[in-house]
Amino acid sequence: MCGIFGVITTKSDAPSQVFSGLSDIEYRGYDSWGIASFIGNSFQVVKNIGFLPKKLTLPKANLSIGHTRWATHGGVTVANAHPHLDCTKKLTIVHNGIVENYQDLQKKLKGHTFVSETDTEVIIHLIEERMKTEKSLLRAVAVTFRSLKGLNAIVVSDGKSIVVAKKGSPLVVGKSKDGFLVASDPNALLPYTKELLFLEDETILEMNEGLSTYGVLDLKPFKPSFQTVDWDYSASTLKNYPHFMLKEMYEQPQVLRNVLQNLDGIKDLAKVVKKAYGTYLIGCGTASYACLLGVYLFSAIAKKHVNYSIGSEFDYIEDYLTDKSLLIAVSQSGETIDVIEPVTHAKVKKTTIVALTNTLGSTLYRMADIKLLLQAGPEKAVASTKAYIAMQANILLLSFAVAGRLEEGARIVEKSAKEVESVLKKIPQIKKLANRISAADHMYILGRGLSFPIALESALKIKETSYIHAEGFAGGELKHGALALITTGTPVIVYVPNDETKEAVLANATEVKARGAFVIGVSFQNNSAFDYFFEVKDTGASSVIPHVVFAQLLGYQLSLKRKINPDKPRNLAKSVVVK
Ligand code: M6R
Repeated sequence: MCGIFGVITTKSDAPSQVFSGLSDIEYRGYDSWGIASFIGNSFQVVKNIGFLPKKLTLPKANLSIGHTRWATHGGVTVANAHPHLDCTKKLTIVHNGIVENYQDLQKKLKGHTFVSETDTEVIIHLIEERMKTEKSLLRAVAVTFRSLKGLNAIVVSDGKSIVVAKKGSPLVVGKSKDGFLVASDPNALLPYTKELLFLEDETILEMNEGLSTYGVLDLKPFKPSFQTVDWDYSASTLKNYPHFMLKEMYEQPQVLRNVLQNLDGIKDLAKVVKKAYGTYLIGCGTASYACLLGVYLFSAIAKKHVNYSIGSEFDYIEDYLTDKSLLIAVSQSGETIDVIEPVTHAKVKKTTIVALTNTLGSTLYRMADIKLLLQAGPEKAVASTKAYIAMQANILLLSFAVAGRLEEGARIVEKSAKEVESVLKKIPQIKKLANRISAADHMYILGRGLSFPIALESALKIKETSYIHAEGFAGGELKHGALALITTGTPVIVYVPNDETKEAVLANATEVKARGAFVIGVSFQNNSAFDYFFEVKDTGASSVIPHVVFAQLLGYQLSLKRKINPDKPRNLAKSVVVK
């Protein structure tokens, strides 16, 4: 989704810092971009639709703010790209979020010229208007921000200061030796500083030669608490890989081993789960499938019922939450609005919130009572791979910990890490398979038990990377409708692990084969029902981990074959921060 990067510095390279900062947050997804730099007495803006160029000649300036836009209000046009200016061109703004009442606010503005269709431009004209009565930019921004409905983060400048206000949308401030920076992703700040301030909602701050922080409602000053992080910027760069997705898939064995270093956190959480009156797992997209896997794992391993919901539906079914319930919110980014909203509502009911997230300092992380980091390192490809694997491993280990068998869980996760290494070595084999099926319009994936959520996740991975319509089904559902979709040559992936589902899912493989399907068996052993066999050694309940890596690699190879950039699927963003 939209990305923000702003700099005020004693040096004159603010625009080029903004350009490289925007390049670092490109992965969030965008369809246009822009940079405003304060030169002389007013702002100069460069903006365009599409992706940032590889190189850009920019003027010298001490203050610059930039934006990558993911269109919501108004189409993808140069005029709608941020930054926006007021009528005098002395004020500029970049904005993430949606101003729900922007039409009402716009009606109140008389004598202003609007050049875009955006809600953002309304904000900057409101601030321009407020500047006539308020004593400072800070006050004008604060008063305006209070009138905005919805979840918004704004960065505004008059050329002397940068004023930042936020509610809902993530923003992080960095303090460098030459000045201050603000960005929607902390990793983008790492080339300049490791001293970071994760902004709380309803705060406003002003950056010039110093930094002042206030509550946006009462303008009461407070002392900012910067944290020094020890993150490595190079972890979020491509290194020698052609795509982030490939790099992140290769990092998975190490991610699994990182998770195994954090067994104490898992043990502590297991104690809380045991005491809770009802445990609920929520997440969106890929994370939701990790949550659904949790239902199966908790049943099979811990003999315990846990509930699951996709984040965006949870608000409609959460009436049963109490102060004794436990809500485990699973999110790579920790910013997904469809997770943050139900968590906000659960907090009102005093439900204990657990954040299982990859992002230290994220909104979810800050909201949670108990925090467990995924240990996956920065993930940039839109298609989640290593973070998903870390979710699977953490939830699997948690179910073993609740059963009092954590060491056994750790042993099979280690085994699965080795098996992921073997799957990664078989990329040439997966490439051949991708070539064989890349022209398919539809593809189906079958699994039962633990492999049902894996079928759903595999389908999502294939959809978003290759744009092939892929659907995951529980094997048992075939005869209830899905079988009608199978025609000659339809690729069907069948997960056949060495568990109680083996016989039944092999029967499903035979059923689809009889209807002409091209059956791709992912299993510990070959079977006559398979037209194509991909071997994954049995590692017990953790076999789900290497199984899903097969689907990730297949999705990646399909994207290459179909000439799609796997890191930037059309219409999708890495972090979904607006509804
Ligand atoms: O950051 P989150 O884990 O909360 O993101 C949730 C989904 O938006 C995300 O998993 C999405 O489905 C991915 N593109 C899947 O690969």
